[in-house]
Amino acid sequence: MYNKDYLEEKSKVNIDILDEIDSTNEEAKRRIKDGASADFVLVARKQTAGKGRKGRSFYSPKDTGIYLTFTHFTDEAAEDVLKVTVATSVIAAKTIKDTLNINCGIKWVNDLYHNGKKVSGTLCEYIFKGTYENEQNAVIVGIGINLSTEDFPEEISDKAGSLTANNDNIFYDEIVSGISNGLNSFFKDCNLNYYLPLYKELSIVLGKEVELSDALGVAGRGRVIDFDDNGAIILETKNGEKKTFDSGEISLFMI
Ligand code: BTN
Repeated sequence: MYNKDYLEEKSKVNIDILDEIDSTNEEAKRRIKDGASADFVLVARKQTAGKGRKGRSFYSPKDTGIYLTFTHFTDEAAEDVLKVTVATSVIAAKTIKDTLNINCGIKWVNDLYHNGKKVSGTLCEYIFKGTYENEQNAVIVGIGINLSTEDFPEEISDKAGSLTANNDNIFYDEIVSGISNGLNSFFKDCNLNYYLPLYKELSIVLGKEVELSDALGVAGRGRVIDFDDNGAIILETKNGEKKTFDSGEISLFMI
């Protein structure tokens, strides 16, 4: 299914293919703890405890999706995780388009949608220097894509979907190398100039009325009028006030 030599040749980064793991993000942390200090990519054929954002799980059955973690060692500050998430959404959507010719839309911050269902998400984690006796900060970018996954657990079955109904023409190596190369070039300067216009083009929430919630409940309601240079979302409320949020979860009043 995956070809390590081909992948490394195409991607110019160390890539390890794992048959089965709890979570590629957790395995990345263990490797940082064990002394890894150069960027690396982990890809799993199956995850037994895939993690999503906000403590959710990410359903990761064998050979039906991409479960990938790109670990980047950096001097960038923790605040830049939002930028990384925005760039990753664009890179994943573009890679899906280039390899499978399937269009996805982006729901802020990082969810990819296809035919009204969520097909991909990103979980970025920031590891401060010293956390695992590591000498540099690290950004762990975990990307999950449902390629041909079926029979989702009941609690997500109305929201989660897959890109295609069969595995026949999926080139896993091309998707992994597309994402790895995309992140490699983003990490050269962590600049969103190239990604933001594409992000806006692919956004399924721009111009829509939304409600934004955080851990405490509803934090804002309004129309999405833009994203700022870091990818924060800008809402215009009913009384014309503009509010910017750099975290939270949005629900659309209508898609
Ligand atoms: C989300 O949609 O909330 C984020 C999902 C992120 C899933 C990926 S799969 C590879 C990596 N390893 C994990 O445990 N999670 C991320």
